[in-house]
Amino acid sequence: MSTIVPTTVPPALAQTPEWSAFVSAGSASIVSPDELCIVEAAGVFLDLTGQVASPQLSQAGQALLTARNFTLYRDKLLSGQSINNTEERAAWHTMLRAPAPVEAVAAERQRMNEFIRKADSERRWRNIVHIGIGGSDWGVRLTVGAFGYAGMWRQVRFAASIDGHAIEGALAGLNPHDTLIVLASKSFTTAETLQNGRRAIEWQRNAGVEDPYENLMVVTARPDLAKAWGARDSQIFRLWDWVGGRFSLWSSVGLTTALAVGSDVVAGMHAGAAAMDMHFASAPFEKNAPIQMALAGIVNRNALGYASLNIAPYDFRLANLVPYLQQLEMESLGKSVDLDGDAVHVATGPAVWGMPGTDAQHTFFQWLHQSSDGAPVDFIVCQEAGHHWPEHHRSLLANCLAQREALLQGKSYEEALKECLASGLPQEKAEWLAKHRVHPGGRPSNLIVLPKLTPYTLGALLALYEHKVFVQGVVWGINPFDQWGVEYGKVLAQGITEELSGAKPQDGAGHDASTAYWVKRFGG
Ligand code: F6P
Repeated sequence: MSTIVPTTVPPALAQTPEWSAFVSAGSASIVSPDELCIVEAAGVFLDLTGQVASPQLSQAGQALLTARNFTLYRDKLLSGQSINNTEERAAWHTMLRAPAPVEAVAAERQRMNEFIRKADSERRWRNIVHIGIGGSDWGVRLTVGAFGYAGMWRQVRFAASIDGHAIEGALAGLNPHDTLIVLASKSFTTAETLQNGRRAIEWQRNAGVEDPYENLMVVTARPDLAKAWGARDSQIFRLWDWVGGRFSLWSSVGLTTALAVGSDVVAGMHAGAAAMDMHFASAPFEKNAPIQMALAGIVNRNALGYASLNIAPYDFRLANLVPYLQQLEMESLGKSVDLDGDAVHVATGPAVWGMPGTDAQHTFFQWLHQSSDGAPVDFIVCQEAGHHWPEHHRSLLANCLAQREALLQGKSYEEALKECLASGLPQEKAEWLAKHRVHPGGRPSNLIVLPKLTPYTLGALLALYEHKVFVQGVVWGINPFDQWGVEYGKVLAQGITEELSGAKPQDGAGHDASTAYWVKRFGG
């Protein structure tokens, strides 16, 4: 890289009085308060009542943002300035969903809509195999699952991993003549995607499809590479360098979503996300949902010491929200150096994990309630269901609220003992068992309520998380838009692949003893 992009980094975070004041105000117990703290943004309700709160903390949060030049960074983000300093580019995903986007974005949107209109009117392609990974995959899986869970006239399959079972399973049983392959790769260099793409083209050719490239659409920021690979101009939808992979759902990567569940779904998601962008840009500090959510997360991480964040969508349709947010949060915030490359002397992004409720309750909620560590939980639920079984939905809502209440309020020894005695246990046994039934409580959570799951509310929800992550990146002083940690392993894998295939000698050079042993053994 030729130049070092100048940054406006404030003094090392841990040494600032604003940081100390914030962490100290945040180091308080979570009590079940009388006063609610609910912020509404773009039709989404964020209930922060289960977080640490006090007037001192609020003041300290505001001072911290000022000290970290937050407004300047937010302006840079939203106006498309180069904010990703290690890759020297903007992170302008908000432009992709803007109501009046720049010409290139508008033109590509229109091209895509026309393509879909034509394909739909011709009832062309009953099957789509979407090939892409990470940001070129999760958003599409999420939206297709969210709005197509009850069936679609086009069948959609996904192949992401380099594991051959993935593409084998995705292609199995489909009619190649009636199958569109959508190959999504921003960089058009991702090994998994290119290899799976080659398998899909071969599969078409072997089945007698005369011109397999006729059944292919590519979404990429590198049309030159896609063309060298065999795609034609008319088969390429563009995205741009300034769109980060994990933010690319808003670009033509949404092609499969639109073909599967409709262009109106994509448009609705754009509208919801744009409304959240507007809110983020203009809502005052106390009422700004991404800001408040970000600060609560920093309290949990840095003042209370929680190393992970659990995501619990109480909605079967949002099953893929967890991996989607894992990539967003962990690729963005899994850093430990600041913009200047110096160590950040505080803990940064938490590990993110989860599963939809109520399955999660029967899998790991025991740990959330009674383990020595615990984790903050984001409960996400829709007030209104999409199905017609009110009884199911009442139970789902009840479970969501109950789990959250248990985490917040806990159950004391006295309460547990009373319960045990009431169930008829003799005093001694009741005293013993009661100790096992104590719930410490005071464990933080957010409750995020969507009135119902629509493209608009899902768009707003995803943008809420994007901006939350951004605010945290600014406070911690890290670049939330690069992902160098992923690159190193890719390079090593390339070298090992060559050794396994015999293209490079398996002499153990450069490997640790164990890797050298297995390379030799796997390489035969
Ligand atoms: O996992 C690393 C990563 O670079 C992600 O950031 C990205 O979403 C994914 O790989 C896929 O990249 P591409 O769209 O360039 O194939």
